[in-house]
Amino acid sequence: MENINTDNFSQAVISWQKQYGRHDFPWQKDRNVYRVWLSEIMLQQTQVNTVLPYYNRFIDRFPDVFSLAVANIDEVLFLWSGLGYYSRARNLHRSARIVVSQFKGVFPNRIEELQKLPGIGRSTAGAIMVLAYKKRASILDGNVKRVLARYFAIYEPINLGSTEKNLWRLSDELVPDKEVIPYTQGMMDLGAIICKRSQPLCERCPLQQACMAYHKQVQHVLPNREKQKEKPVRQSDFVLITQHQLVLLKQRPKVGIWGGLWSLPQRTELEQLKPQPIIAMGPKWLEFRHTFSHFYLDCRIYQATIDGLQALPMGWIWYNSSYSVSIGLAAPIKKVIRQWFLLESSNKSRSSS
Ligand code: ADE
Repeated sequence: MENINTDNFSQAVISWQKQYGRHDFPWQKDRNVYRVWLSEIMLQQTQVNTVLPYYNRFIDRFPDVFSLAVANIDEVLFLWSGLGYYSRARNLHRSARIVVSQFKGVFPNRIEELQKLPGIGRSTAGAIMVLAYKKRASILDGNVKRVLARYFAIYEPINLGSTEKNLWRLSDELVPDKEVIPYTQGMMDLGAIICKRSQPLCERCPLQQACMAYHKQVQHVLPNREKQKEKPVRQSDFVLITQHQLVLLKQRPKVGIWGGLWSLPQRTELEQLKPQPIIAMGPKWLEFRHTFSHFYLDCRIYQATIDGLQALPMGWIWYNSSYSVSIGLAAPIKKVIRQWFLLESSNKSRSSS
């Protein structure tokens, strides 16, 4: 074990957090385990500024675990749409149902039990233990990894399992016995405000004196990452079929991209319409690339007309964006549909003037 003075480290972080850290997030007010859990899930892959409006809308609609547990998943996905990584929303909903049905609506307060809930990994469970229950626990998100990799001048790529194990050990070791909330929030805040990925503000860092990266002046090259493979590119053809201001939509299967969200149907899915209507494929209308965490999706949107369509099967709807029903639409598809509606209404007003 590196020879570290854990008390100095945590004290420096705590004092700094109290003076310069972030204290005004909505989940820091009226703090309870539900609010902490929701914020930590939303913050898993997403920046704070993006999360804030989603968090506020979600809390307004689902202020507690009971309201979330009885909700329809479509409405949960609707409130999540645009935030990405939709399995988070489905896991959130499943967890709420488990908490209500198995724990009478009271979240477990043991880390092992928390980690059994869908969507809660080791770091999220640690954050909940600290921020909701004031218990001693460690976290290791991207910010904390960066702070530790620099402080200890760890050159091994932080995305290797062996490095991660080492970082967990360090993170565990450094958590103080008291003031766990300002300490943990301080580590998150330091990573976000001072020990930034690029252009870290070392002159303002409370850990500068003992920071090994700073001493060696390698803070700009750390942390290292094992080069990720180029993301593969996939391709999907979607079909825009419209009728009287309505767009034909299909709900995506639960697993896979945009799981459970509504989207334009893929070309191959049109075969599911029985009896098979007459579909006249038109020209390619739009083409764009959407980036997922592990691949790119090149989307091609074709216009088509349909004739002889009878009742729609389950999971298909005719949709008008002015409907008051809220459905979870895949974000890029929502843009496509909006663009079509705008174009339609401007064509209409031009032809009527
Ligand atoms: N990122 C993850 N959890 C966070 C929190 N509680 N505050 C700020 N950023 C975070």
